Amino acid sequence: MKILSIESSCDETAAAVVENGRTVLSSSVASQIEEHKLYGGVVPEIASRLHCEAINGVVRKALDDAGLDIKGIDAIAVTYAPGLIGALLVGVNFAKGLSLASGLPLIPVHHLRSHIASNYIAHPELEPPFLCLVVSGGHSHIVEVTDYTVMRVIGKTRDDAAGEAFDKAARTMGMPYPGGVHLDRTAEGGDPDSFVLPRPHVVGSPYDMSFSGLKTAMINLIHNAAQRGEELPVKDLSASFRKAVVESLTEKFMAAADDLGCRKLVLAGGVSANSLLRKTVKAECERRGLSCYYPPRELCGDNGAMVGAQGYYEYLAGHTASSDLNARATMTIE
Ligand code: KG4
Ligand code: ZN
Repeated sequence: MKILSIESSCDETAAAVVENGRTVLSSSVASQIEEHKLYGGVVPEIASRLHCEAINGVVRKALDDAGLDIKGIDAIAVTYAPGLIGALLVGVNFAKGLSLASGLPLIPVHHLRSHIASNYIAHPELEPPFLCLVVSGGHSHIVEVTDYTVMRVIGKTRDDAAGEAFDKAARTMGMPYPGGVHLDRTAEGGDPDSFVLPRPHVVGSPYDMSFSGLKTAMINLIHNAAQRGEELPVKDLSASFRKAVVESLTEKFMAAADDLGCRKLVLAGGVSANSLLRKTVKAECERRGLSCYYPPRELCGDNGAMVGAQGYYEYLAGHTASSDLNARATMTIE
């Protein structure tokens, strides 16, 4: 079954053709990062307008690269939640139009479920059940994936997402948007123990996370130094911040895995590209004799292929939509 998939939840307009949930026939992405860089973050109105401009070409390219036209496609999958509402609406309405015109089934896909599914593309042998840490710019969840479309949130952030914390810390150090990847690179070779930063805990909820206190501590440290006219060692500071976030994520993830007796651990979402997070979770899994999976870096960020992968399993589960499908800014993964 060949699925044409569309993603427009944030600042990437993406489309792909994916066969049977696992094989990517084509994948095309138009990134808006350069336009948003000017403002230090995503400007929702600009994102919506750029999606409108890009979507036709991106979908066309995905079909062309797969050597297909719409007649060679069996269904259309689209990200419908969660995300920036104006941005999501562009993809959803485009997909609805295509579905109406072609008569093909329409499959609504949850954005975080699709991040998890990027692992199905990269690891053909991976099947549920497993425990997944989904960490992106807007969400940080520990999810028990019982089946392809059956999920339970075990823990989540009480405030900022891990990616958001990385981006804010990076911005305060003067790095361009999106700062997570720059902070990650800068941290290499820095001393991770040179700055004492808080390790937040949520009392009574061992798997929940919190990053706003850590973010504020970091911002205060940088501002106080600037007021005193001091220059901070950016490499050491980045390394210390990265270690604090990664330790917090890993500790909660491993505690959930131990308590639930999970044997298979999976990382997903933009922050799963983080070098230290990949290394640390892999080492902890090896120590416990658990299997560990994460996507290659090109599948960590938003892309169309992951939507086609999850879309296939949603279709098998009977999850299709009619033309009254709407986009939703927030929606649980469950
Ligand atoms: O999943 P994603 O592409 O978009 C959302 O659904 O939010 O995640 C984007 C987030 C951004 O906050 C970005 O800075 C972060 O992932 N990110 C990283 C790294 N690469 C991307 N954070 C830390 N280290 C990285 N290497
Ligand atoms: Zn995402």
